[in-house]
Amino acid sequence: MELEILSGDITMVEADAIVNAANNSLLGGGGVDGAIHRAAGPELLHECRTLGGCGTGMAKITKGYRLPAKYVIHTVGPIWHGGGANEENLLASCYKNSLLLAEKYNCRYVAFPSISTGAYSFPLQKASKIAVKAIMEFQSIENVVEKASIVCFDKKTKEYYDKALKEYFKKD
Ligand code: APR
Repeated sequence: MELEILSGDITMVEADAIVNAANNSLLGGGGVDGAIHRAAGPELLHECRTLGGCGTGMAKITKGYRLPAKYVIHTVGPIWHGGGANEENLLASCYKNSLLLAEKYNCRYVAFPSISTGAYSFPLQKASKIAVKAIMEFQSIENVVEKASIVCFDKKTKEYYDKALKEYFKKD
C-alpha cells in the first residue's frame, strides 16, 4: 500500500473515506471531530446517533454527506495515560480497524488524521511510528485499499510523520 504524509485540512481531502478521531459517544466534539461534523453537515450527526457509540480502538462507518469523501470512518483513539493501559495496541487497532472497514466498503484511498495526538495527548513521536507501522503492515485481505494518507494539521505533526515514514523504510 502507498502511504503519503500530507499537510492540510482532512475535510478537504477527496479520498473515498476520511477517518475521524472521534470519542466513544460518536456525537461530535472539537478538533478534527468538530471540523468533520461542521463540513459534513447535520446529517452526519443524525447518522452517528444511530450507531450506539464506538469502543476505543474500534471503528464505525457513515456516509460523508457534504464532504468530498464518500464515507467517514469514525474511530476512537486511546487517551494517553502514560503507556501502561495498552494505549499503543489500541492506537494500532484504530488504524487496522479503519482499514478493514475501508476495504469492506471498497475504498481505494483512505485519509487519516493524526489520531489521539491532540486532546488525547498521545506523544507524537510514538503515535507517528505506530500509525506508519500499522498502515504499512496492514494485512490486506482483498488488496482493495491502494493508498493511504496521513493529513497533518500543523508543521510539527508533519515533521514527526515524515520522520516515522523515513525510519520505517530505513529499518528494512
Ligand atoms: N484536519 C486534519 N487534522 C486536524 C484537523 C483537520 N481539520 N483539525 C485538527 N486536526 C488534528 C489535530 O491538530 C491533531 O494533530 O487532528 C489531530 C488529532 O487531534 P484531536 O482532533 O484533538 O483528536 P484526538 O487527540 O484523537 O482527541 C479526540 O477530541 O475532538 C475531540 O471528540 C473528540 O473527544 C475526542 C477527542
